[in-house]
Amino acid sequence: MSRGVGLDELAGARREGRGILGAVAYDTVGVEAIVTAGRRTGRPIIAQIGSSAFNHVDAGGLIAAARMIIERSPTPVGLHLDHSGSLEEIRRCLDAGYTSVMVDGSRLDFADNVALSTAAVDLARPYAAWVEAELGRIDGDEDRSIAAAGSGGLTRPSEAARFVDETGVDALAVSVGNVHGRTATPVRIHLDLLGELGEAVRVPLVLHGVSGIDGDTLAVACRLGVAKFNVNADLRAAYLAAVAEWAGEPPGDDLVGALRVARQRVTGVLVDLIAVLDPP
Ligand code: 13P
Repeated sequence: MSRGVGLDELAGARREGRGILGAVAYDTVGVEAIVTAGRRTGRPIIAQIGSSAFNHVDAGGLIAAARMIIERSPTPVGLHLDHSGSLEEIRRCLDAGYTSVMVDGSRLDFADNVALSTAAVDLARPYAAWVEAELGRIDGDEDRSIAAAGSGGLTRPSEAARFVDETGVDALAVSVGNVHGRTATPVRIHLDLLGELGEAVRVPLVLHGVSGIDGDTLAVACRLGVAKFNVNADLRAAYLAAVAEWAGEPPGDDLVGALRVARQRVTGVLVDLIAVLDPP
């Protein structure tokens, strides 16, 4: 039975220079792929289901199904709310059994981000759930790729230390050149800045926007204090390519086959990433 991915797991990963994947899912095919990747590698993994999925399905139904799939996992699988600016949504997800949440006040000014993130921490404590927050601003759209990195504000080490102290958050998502989604030109991760953030901040760091970042950079990030790595676009691409290829042209009607291949391909992407973040 899965015991979730707790703060001890995350802190251990940071201490040992390992990374844990936070993988976005929109449906049960995605959740099954995540659980299978955890089982196949024997590593903890976090399923992230948030408002993008809630906007297109019955949220309560999807969460209940995800929990059932996760609870049967022999290896630890967390259930995490990604990027929420709503305390009401955070409370609903905690009530529904989420083991961690991300409060996203990155578009607010520092004081308002501190206030929102502190409120999320207060909300989560009675549930024994841990809280990730974001400081600085990560460019891009969480559900679609963009053409190029823009001008997302980088996270400043001195502010980051103060932010963690004032809010009591358990993990911090940082902006170090990373963007959500794939970009036409490779992004440049500012490893020097990441190193300074790792020195300044004692809690595990989180790197969003893993799609499109090379394996060597991810491995270095593990050693600099990043314990959680968020991936989405590469999973969406693998899912859609599998369905398109299986369907053929003109598309046939073998939906069951297409979903099976999609699940296998998404699992493959996750297993490959885990091998980089937490090698055997
Ligand atoms: P990518 O879509 O770039 O993999 O980023 C995902 C993410 O950071 C989700 O929070």
